[in-house]
Amino acid sequence: MAEIVVVESKQAAGELVALKIRGLIESRADTVLGLATGSTPLPVYAALAQSLRKNPMDVSRVRGFALDEYVGLPEGHPESYRTVITRDVVRPLGLTPTLICVPNGEIETLEHAGADYERAIEAAGGIDLQILGIGRTGHLGFNEPGSSFASLTRVKTLAPKSRADNARFFASPDEVPRHCITQGLGTIRRARHLVLLAFGAEKAAAIAAAVEGPVTASQPGSAIQLHEHVTVVLDPPAAAALANLDYYRYIWANKPAWQGI
Ligand code: F6R
Repeated sequence: MAEIVVVESKQAAGELVALKIRGLIESRADTVLGLATGSTPLPVYAALAQSLRKNPMDVSRVRGFALDEYVGLPEGHPESYRTVITRDVVRPLGLTPTLICVPNGEIETLEHAGADYERAIEAAGGIDLQILGIGRTGHLGFNEPGSSFASLTRVKTLAPKSRADNARFFASPDEVPRHCITQGLGTIRRARHLVLLAFGAEKAAAIAAAVEGPVTASQPGSAIQLHEHVTVVLDPPAAAALANLDYYRYIWANKPAWQGI
């Protein structure tokens, strides 16, 4: 069962996950991180950046793989995930840019971009900790409902709901690309530790389906139930639809401090 942690705020969630990542890097300087974009992981990146400013450590060998990228955005587009990862993660954390990979969304090389990305992840020894958000459609990465649990990095078509949700980052809704290249659910499931975060009431239904619903391709988030090490970090509104919420809170309250997440 996934470990469900309900914290009071996004900041508290960010601090909890940042502490875990620090510990990983302390134990292995070339830790491989799976990096989500969107709004959800920002408190994690902010808390980690703050912690590194307060208490510096060598992160120059940390490697990273973004979850996904839009197809067909021109290089340097402010909302391409390459740009976002550079702005929100690489620079504030002081990571080495050449060690951070993002799927290649250029149309000319799309045919083999997924296989190239899979090879790069494998060559790095796999992902140690994968940070995840969840879409209102239940998507992980951009694996919309119906995605195979065995899927690897490939091109997908964004659901209209996901395009509408992401329109807030673009000048107009029409500018949101229709296609993306995303790590598959199979790729995500190979990461050694999944950390799924969600904040706000609009994520409550997707979280309940992912954690407690049937395991089904119609709810891509439910793929987490097939993984042996998953931590789900929620604020109270995102946790509100969980049937066994009291039990999850009880488990967390009684967890020995030495266990960590
Ligand atoms: C981001 C990603 C998506 C987002 C999801 C939630 O790389 O793959 O699955 O995590 O769409 O987006 P936010 O966090 O903006 O609510």
